[in-house]
Amino acid sequence: MDTVAEIKSRLSIVDVVSQYVQLKKAGRNFKACCPFHSEKTPSFIISPERQFAWCYGCQTGGDIFKIVQLIEGVDFKESLKILADKAGVELPTNFSGGVKKEKKDKLIEINELAADFFAQALSENSTAQEYLKGRGLKPETVKEWQVGFAPDDFDALHPQLEEKFSKKEITEAGVAGLKEMASDQLYDKFRNRIIFPIEDHRGRVVAFTGRVLDSAEPKYLNSAESPIFSKGQILFGFAKSRDAIREQKFAVVVEGQLDVISAHQAGFKNVVATSGTALTEMHLKALKNLIESVIFCFDSDSAGLESTRRALEIAAALDLNAKVATPLGGVKDPDEAFQKDPQIFADAVASAATPLDFFFDVLFAETDWKNSTEKKKAVRVLLAHAAKIFSAVEREDFIRDAATRLGSSEAALTEEFENLSASDFTPAVPEPKSKDALDSEKILRGLLLAFPKLAEKLGLAAEAESEEDEKLAVLVSDKYADFSDDEVVKEIKNLQSKVSSKSVSAKKHELKAEMQKAEAAGDDERAAELSAEYQKLLRK
Ligand code: UTP
Ligand code: MN
Repeated sequence: MDTVAEIKSRLSIVDVVSQYVQLKKAGRNFKACCPFHSEKTPSFIISPERQFAWCYGCQTGGDIFKIVQLIEGVDFKESLKILADKAGVELPTNFSGGVKKEKKDKLIEINELAADFFAQALSENSTAQEYLKGRGLKPETVKEWQVGFAPDDFDALHPQLEEKFSKKEITEAGVAGLKEMASDQLYDKFRNRIIFPIEDHRGRVVAFTGRVLDSAEPKYLNSAESPIFSKGQILFGFAKSRDAIREQKFAVVVEGQLDVISAHQAGFKNVVATSGTALTEMHLKALKNLIESVIFCFDSDSAGLESTRRALEIAAALDLNAKVATPLGGVKDPDEAFQKDPQIFADAVASAATPLDFFFDVLFAETDWKNSTEKKKAVRVLLAHAAKIFSAVEREDFIRDAATRLGSSEAALTEEFENLSASDFTPAVPEPKSKDALDSEKILRGLLLAFPKLAEKLGLAAEAESEEDEKLAVLVSDKYADFSDDEVVKEIKNLQSKVSSKSVSAKKHELKAEMQKAEAAGDDERAAELSAEYQKLLRK
């Protein structure tokens, strides 16, 4: 691999861009306010899959090297130096600098030291200790989970870290930020908050989430995504739960840090949390080898219900048995259940509902089955779930049981399932907004470029051949940012048939014209030939 490729393979565009601007997750992509022009609504799209960032406001962007050149105002060679350093790649001898580092280890070391600092600060702050006591956490629990406290001070932690690490390393580790882009002054990111260290699967501290002690906003502040921390991959409490999960062959997935900690304190050691982010396929894949089934126990609000529905879909697609636990007694989340009576949680887990029971007893609890619009809506939800079920046999069972519960025939429900095309389950193709409207063909090409792995799976692999292609891929991937893999595949297939039917109709047009010409010329044989071809096309 040459140096450029090596650097590219080690650095994500997300890490690079997030050093300069604040990123917001937008499905598969990230968005930010453009670093190249001034704006209030973000139009700078960063595509991790394409490793490309582009502002469709000012039409500027590029790969990591281009971005660094533009922002730092340096030439390619200099951008290479900067990024080689960041990636820990040694440049050929004609370059200066670029020392190889165990970068991730260093970032973890910083987080581990920060955790020690926060734990120490907790031992010195009685208000924070009282808060944790009020939340029902015993001192040994606080110790086991390394719960800490961040003092109300912009300059408490980073000066200590700066004795050993560079400012760049400290900001990259996520515990401090730069006061201003131009200055090199750091400030502590976590202040006046209870701190929960987030560990990776090996139990090393890779990030923090910090909770306010009052009702200030945001309630929880999280470390930014970094080379060592990705919210969509890490389950809070996983390292501490792994043995119990393996032993019990199932895991309970909850939403919050305190749900997990209270559960463990009460002896339920197979409980992990998504930390407030939506459950991802990666979360479940981390568990899948250890378990036979998973139980979701999310908050009892409407957002919790929707998260549960999505989680069940993801589990179904991974061929993983899933159930839903609903704590009774008017509690809003598992933590409240533990404060009230751990038995509430135990009962909820013991009586967890199958997806079908969840749909009918919880999600459709208020549905008026005599109202045909409401019934149809419920049917769509059921069939959308059915479409995700990996096992055909299980899918059939699900549809049969659903039909029984609906008081409809299995045949009718199956027919509805088969008649509903992918587009009935997924949002319609987004309307292109810009003047260079994307037609089906373009969107299709963009999708194949934006989702190379899916394209390859479908045998349709395409490669970007120009910067136009790169832009197209980023724009399309932005439009489809909220689509799951399955939905994207469906969309590709839809567009394919659209594109090919478009070419069929063009062909028909052509044949008809030729036929008329042949007839006019009295060439019956040729006309018959063309007519046969035309008939064939009609049957397509
Ligand atoms: P909740 O709002 O349900 O909070 O968010 P909670 O877990 O019940 O917290 P307590 O009991 O009031 O302390 C669920 C999870 O979502 C994440 C946190 O991980 C939280 O535990 N979250 C919540 C954030 O990341 N940021 C927020 O501002 C709020
Ligand atoms: Mn709570």
